[in-house]
Amino acid sequence: MNPALPDAQRFMGHAKRIKPAEEPLLTHTQADSPMGEAMRLHWQPVCLSSQLKDLPIALRILGEDLVAFRDPQDRIGLLHKHCSHRGASLEFGRITDNGIRCCYHGWHFGHDGSLLDAPAEPVNSPLLKQVKQGAYPVIEFKGLVFAYMGPPTQMPPFPSFDSMHFDDVDLVPYALSHDCNWLQVHENLMDPLHAVFLHSRMGEVQLTQAWGEMPAVEWFEQGDRVCYLTSRQIGDHVWVRFNEVAFPNFGQVAGFWEDGSTAKYFERVGATRWTVPIDNTHCWIFGWRHFSPSLEAKGIGNARQVGLNQLDIYGQTGERGYEEMQRNTGDWEAEVSQGPIAIHALENKGSSDRGVAMLRRHLAQGIANPHQPPSCVEGQTPTWTCNVVLHRPHPMRQDVEMTLSVPELLAIGRSVQSIILAADGLAPNARHARIVAQLQSLSV
Ligand code: FES
Ligand SMILES: [Fe+2]
Repeated sequence: MNPALPDAQRFMGHAKRIKPAEEPLLTHTQADSPMGEAMRLHWQPVCLSSQLKDLPIALRILGEDLVAFRDPQDRIGLLHKHCSHRGASLEFGRITDNGIRCCYHGWHFGHDGSLLDAPAEPVNSPLLKQVKQGAYPVIEFKGLVFAYMGPPTQMPPFPSFDSMHFDDVDLVPYALSHDCNWLQVHENLMDPLHAVFLHSRMGEVQLTQAWGEMPAVEWFEQGDRVCYLTSRQIGDHVWVRFNEVAFPNFGQVAGFWEDGSTAKYFERVGATRWTVPIDNTHCWIFGWRHFSPSLEAKGIGNARQVGLNQLDIYGQTGERGYEEMQRNTGDWEAEVSQGPIAIHALENKGSSDRGVAMLRRHLAQGIANPHQPPSCVEGQTPTWTCNVVLHRPHPMRQDVEMTLSVPELLAIGRSVQSIILAADGLAPNARHARIVAQLQSLSV
């Protein structure tokens, strides 16, 4: 007897076999694309200082092929990759005094792209005045090399977030490559619910048990930022985590190892980062892991595991075995497996995705009308990222079902938010002291 046929009407595979295209406005970043040109108006990390040794390195950033090198005068060049003479790649060039010489006919370019010498040409060749190799200005800061790739007349100040200047914190640079579009990596920062599942309940606990508790969540936009506050009841405490992103591709997350067991007021940043497109289907996260005795009091973090394609947080690179990725899946494979460029038209977003939707809207608005730039006090832009743990035994009824919108927890999160935002105009030390004092008053 033949097997009975399944009820084919219930299966949607054939109806869904043809996929719509990606949304190019936010995902495409090549030259002349709206998002790409918005990113070019901001300083972007392009490599680690430690990558610049005795040989030039080939890079692709925002779809542009580039070569970076450090010359003996300790100046960094970031040049278009193909030599202005006849196109040989400068990755095969020789680093020399004041710049680099192309391997093919020895043309010598300075770090600003000036043609200093064309040895096969007469000394008075007009080429020396006429030719300029494409080049970008760079600034090296705390182990990261930043470039400005926008129009020279619109170069902004170098970013100066407060978290780049903490006295008691070591900033350890890192770079993580991802085989997918930048946006699906960046928007993970406004998706706090994935921590409950991906990092906690779907496999091994990758951070601490507390991350597996369902939080109440508040997302908000202010100026160039999109932020979230998650508030979790952990025993007699409420743990509020405040994370932010800034237009276009900056992001920051609070310390990683929080377990909510002891009161804590305005403990700052675990990682500061930029998600930088390599091209439309690859990107880097460049950033710093923050290390200090108080952030690392549990002894879990390890600065020696932070660098090029390594981070001391589980699941941040594609360098684990496939079976391990299947059994204990990390951020890297969750993000990359959305496809080379995630197709938004295929998604079914719910209330837990409000931050992702808000971020996409914020990016589109920022392309059309630049967001208000952040304020600066004593040369620093205040950021808000922090962990706060308040002593608040059972602010809600025990029978309340944990959802994203438990009013008692949301109210605590909002109190933390307003205390932190209200202190933006103060000088850094006074600001910190005032926020800590006011947050302490929220504990009972
Ligand atoms: S191609 Fe570079 S010097 Fe000729
Ligand atoms: Fe994550």
